[in-house]
Amino acid sequence: MQLTRVLFIVLIASVFTLASNPFSKMDDKKRGFIGVDDCVMCHKTDKQGKQLDIWKASKHANAYKTLLTEEANKIAAEKGFTTPAAQTADCLKCHASGYNYEASLLGKKFKVEDGVQCETCHGAGADYKSMKVMKSREESIKNGLIVHESIEAGCVTCHNAESPTFKEFNFQTAWDQIKHPVPAK
Ligand code: HEC
Ligand code: HEC
Ligand code: HEC
Ligand code: HEC
Repeated sequence: MQLTRVLFIVLIASVFTLASNPFSKMDDKKRGFIGVDDCVMCHKTDKQGKQLDIWKASKHANAYKTLLTEEANKIAAEKGFTTPAAQTADCLKCHASGYNYEASLLGKKFKVEDGVQCETCHGAGADYKSMKVMKSREESIKNGLIVHESIEAGCVTCHNAESPTFKEFNFQTAWDQIKHPVPAK
């Protein structure tokens, strides 16, 4: 009886923890990443909403490459890290996805160099990428698609003062720069 109650509390607590972290950093790591190239087979035409072009033009696509710069290594060293920025988990956690996954969970086309990519925000896609699943919002969510109740809450899991270069985050301006809706039919 006592044990059941403890387990119940743990369960509730973990549900809340997951719910408050809409982006995939907090995923359970059981689902595989497929990479941008596989997502955009169905998300790149004008009719679909050009998600590929919009993402490519955003700084998110270069977030990993930024860690390869002298400036990044300098910031990492100043913070007391002894590894180069691109090998420092405390930098990678906001600048990339999949770097801490087993190779068996990474699809052939997945590239950590793609930085903050589709699946960083929408959840690892190996289980929801098929047309059959994607066509149903409900099935997609069951299979790992993350939808955002509050978009801003997701952004600020990375856009916050823990970022060494953080100044401010204006949600509306920032969202206008990267939003990528499916056009109304
Ligand atoms: C085989 C085609 C296909 C692939 C591959 C695919 N999608 Fe989709 N996706 C769809 C279709 C169809 C929809 C339904 C909505 C629409 O008309 O775009 C959809 C919807 C979505 C939505 C909107 C969900 C909602 O209702 O809010 C997101 C987000 C999304 N896909 C992300 C991804 C990501 C990330 C990947 C890669 C992991 C991916 N998709 C791969 C076909 C695909
Ligand atoms: C997983 C972490 C992460 C999440 C989540 C995230 N971002 Fe970012 N974002 C970054 C990083 C890292 C950069 C810097 C990339 C670079 O300059 O190399 C960035 C840069 C940007 C920039 C460019 C800023 C500039 O100074 O030009 C915009 C705009 C932006 N993000 C908007 C958003 C919005 C809107 C959301 C929420 C929908 C969001 N981001 C969610 C990590 C994230
Ligand atoms: C909490 C998330 C987070 C962490 C941790 C983080 N970054 Fe970033 N980084 C961001 C975001 C968001 C941006 C873009 C906006 C900003 O500067 O806050 C960014 C931007 C940058 C930029 C580009 C600044 C510019 O002026 O264009 C560099 C360089 C950088 N980060 C290096 C690092 C290094 C090195 C580490 C590890 C010591 C690190 N970041 C850790 C989120 C993070
Ligand atoms: C920085 C986080 C971020 C990145 C990177 C990102 N998205 Fe999104 N995306 C969002 C948010 C937030 C929404 C709006 C809320 C929602 O539908 O979840 C959204 C919405 C969508 C939608 C639904 C649009 C609609 O009108 O219903 C699709 C489809 C989609 N994204 C696909 C992609 C694809 C494909 C990529 C990669 C090329 C990508 N996204 C990259 C955060 C992101």
